[in-house]
Amino acid sequence: MSLNRKSKSQTKPALLLINIGQLLALHSVSHKSGPRRGQELRELGIIEDGAVLCVGGKIVSVGTTKDALRDPWLKKNRKNVTEIDCAGEVVTPGFVDSHTHPVFVSPRLVDFEKRIEGASYQEMAQAGGGIRASVDGVRRAGKSALAARVFSALHDMAIHGTTTVEAKSGYGLTVESEMKSLQAIREAAARWPGTVVPTLLGAHVVPREFQGRSLNYVEIVCKEMIPRAARQKLAQFVDVFCDRGAFTVEDTEKIFAAAERHGLSVRAHMCQLTETVLWPFLRFDPASFDHMDHVNQDDIPQLAKRDTVATLVPGANYFLGLDEYPPARKLIDAGVPVALATDYNPGTSPTLSMPMAMSLASTHMKMSPAEVIAAGTINGAWALRLGHRKGSIEPGKDADLAVFAVADYREIPYWFGVNRCSKTILNGTVMSNVSLVRTR
Ligand code: NIG
Ligand code: FE
Repeated sequence: MSLNRKSKSQTKPALLLINIGQLLALHSVSHKSGPRRGQELRELGIIEDGAVLCVGGKIVSVGTTKDALRDPWLKKNRKNVTEIDCAGEVVTPGFVDSHTHPVFVSPRLVDFEKRIEGASYQEMAQAGGGIRASVDGVRRAGKSALAARVFSALHDMAIHGTTTVEAKSGYGLTVESEMKSLQAIREAAARWPGTVVPTLLGAHVVPREFQGRSLNYVEIVCKEMIPRAARQKLAQFVDVFCDRGAFTVEDTEKIFAAAERHGLSVRAHMCQLTETVLWPFLRFDPASFDHMDHVNQDDIPQLAKRDTVATLVPGANYFLGLDEYPPARKLIDAGVPVALATDYNPGTSPTLSMPMAMSLASTHMKMSPAEVIAAGTINGAWALRLGHRKGSIEPGKDADLAVFAVADYREIPYWFGVNRCSKTILNGTVMSNVSLVRTR
């Protein structure tokens, strides 16, 4: 279950993009399905002077402009087709941001200042800042106010080329506030033309009123939050922040087992602050383990055999001012499937720009420009179990595309801190970036 406006797809006009300088198709390189690993991450399937035809919110053909203009169906139907002349710009699959926390009210500026003065993420949490500092705002807010915040984040994400977003609750931490957060995600998703995958993160941190009684809180997550989210179809995934100061391995296993009983898939924040041995969780077939800064050496060969994606979020390392970044090279070179996401949240990663995450991955994690694109598209899609529908430009897939005002795809991670996305197509709906400053 992902949330988008499927019912309206049928009425969407046909759309033809032509004169694409580089079309990054990322079409399947082998017959096997599943996330890309190793060398496969570098294969972008670039078509020069490309064209894409979309009908009813789906991609129907992909090729060169010359072939598209010769196509008999197009010749006959040309006046019913909206044409977009890309004038040599680059087109990628719409980005898949597979890890975000958009349901919050205020930025955490006190944390920001304290960190500049030298406090660590954990010290701040102990002093009453951190995740708990965002909870009061969400508990007090009405559902519509939260939905407006989420919608505005989704809109800004689309302006940066993102068409599919995983959105977590996690700043409510009561049954009512977590359900309100998931409903806000649903309400915002209904107004946004892209696709949203909702995740219950009731186990983000133990709330103040349960301090010293974390087992009672885990019970509430398992016995109340998960059943309600499943019954009301408010979440597709259950996430847990498994780390020092948050939830233990035993808590996480209990929560995963409850999710499984209620038919929800699982993912988790893992190894952000400390090393956790991951193989015992593999029996729950997690869609992804996220952060992965301190991954155990012995887990790497296990992960290389599985489709559980390691989702790296370098925005958090950047914003926390850390010297170390997740060991992307080690993971990729060992065959672990890797995705990139923003981790958009008010505490550790207030960015909703996938190109920024890609730039950080190139400069600080030594991922090549080709690898960052594949990690932010097709592997992000697999991290959400949407690889069959999203993440590449192939006939039959959803019409999710991003157009960049650059001549070479490597410029996407190269120009950091500015947005070069000129247009985004979300399930066939075109959105133009009116504030774009062009350099060419
Ligand atoms: O992914 N690590 C846990 N959760 C978020 C941080 C949330 C916050 O600080 O508000 C993260 O970094
Ligand atoms: Fe996160």
